[in-house]
Amino acid sequence: MSRSLPRRALVTGGAGFIGSNLTAALLRAGVEVSVFDNLSRAGSRRNLLWLHSLPESRRLRVLIGDVRRPDMLAEACQDQQEIYHFAAQVAVTSSLLDPRLDFEINLAGTFNLLEAARRQAPGAFVLFTSTNKVYGALDEPPSGPGVDEGQPLDLHSPYGCSKGAADQYVRDYGRVYGLRSAVLRMSCIYGPRQNGTEDQGWVAHFMFAALRSEPVWIYGDGEQVRDLLYVDDLIAAMDALRTCPQAAGQVFNVGGGRSQTRSVRQVLADIEALTGRRIEKRQGPWRVGDQRAYISNTSKLQQMTGWKPRTGVETGFNELYRWARTLCQEEQESAREPSPARAQGKANGGLAPGKPAWAEERVA
Ligand SMILES: NC(=O)c1ccc[n+]([C@@H]2O[C@H](COP(=O)([O-])OP(=O)(O)OC[C@H]3O[C@@H](n4cnc5c(N)ncnc54)[C@H](O)[C@@H]3O)[C@@H](O)[C@H]2O)c1
Repeated sequence: MSRSLPRRALVTGGAGFIGSNLTAALLRAGVEVSVFDNLSRAGSRRNLLWLHSLPESRRLRVLIGDVRRPDMLAEACQDQQEIYHFAAQVAVTSSLLDPRLDFEINLAGTFNLLEAARRQAPGAFVLFTSTNKVYGALDEPPSGPGVDEGQPLDLHSPYGCSKGAADQYVRDYGRVYGLRSAVLRMSCIYGPRQNGTEDQGWVAHFMFAALRSEPVWIYGDGEQVRDLLYVDDLIAAMDALRTCPQAAGQVFNVGGGRSQTRSVRQVLADIEALTGRRIEKRQGPWRVGDQRAYISNTSKLQQMTGWKPRTGVETGFNELYRWARTLCQEEQESAREPSPARAQGKANGGLAPGKPAWAEERVA
């Protein structure tokens, strides 16, 4: 009797917010997962430690590498059936401070990934996470069901340019090399394991501000709106695309849609109500590249795959709160009783003791 071999997947940025959630879901589904990450984002080591703690972690392989290294990606892509490319410089603000770094990670890094995929894993499903920022400032509030894929590209800010150009490369490698690629232009995603800061991951950033009694800055009038999508719903969309042959070479907008649209001030109020804590708000000017209103029209994705978001904002915020509260409690406990062994383990992201911090398994 023949038994089918497990699926094999590579997740770049697999120790990040979306990457660690997807990796956990894939491991639970019996997939052999290679995480490829340089652990540059604060919190990524903690996410890795969590992945190592899962009962399914025997199917997890961790490659500490950088997408700016084509040789590392070539080795990581070998024989993969699914490639999820999330590794990125993720903030508009940082891209303005260091546009070259943003370019090298987001555009050249994606190019490296595509070349590695077409040479080492030409039959693989390749998913790229793009952004609503590719549609530019959008000064008019979106009407009807929101912004669809027919909206002209209007790349703005180094981050918008690097992600937008990478988005086009991924799409075109589907056309010219027949790569089974798909692009998700994502609105605001939130959920557990999001290490939100002022620069990126604003829902989690507000949650941590409430729990740690820290002030938040509101840039602009605070009435800017986004449609919010809970991370498990995003992962369901990725799975729907993987199993949909017509999705190859296509671009899709994804977010929570009009019913899950909230303003910055509404989210602050929701978090204050949920945590029972008042958040101190400070006022700043509008930031470069900030859209006043963005709502995703997800009709194309829904019609092609049958996907739709299932987690309401209230439920999603509760899940984020439960995770963030536990994290903050652990932080407080370890501040009171520092344990060198535990601190050492956490700092090393669960990498085996004695191994160099940059590689659990060398890829180059
Ligand atoms: N979270 C959102 O709301 C959102 C919205 C639109 C698009 N995106 C895109 O989704 C992807 C994942 O976002 P996220 O929120 O999980 O971010 P994240 O910062 O939590 O995860 C990104 C991961 O990539 C890693 N990384 C960074 N530079 C790297 C490099 N040079 N080589 C290897 N690894 C590197 C980081 O260490 C981190 O673990 C990104 O491409 C981002 O642009 C996210």
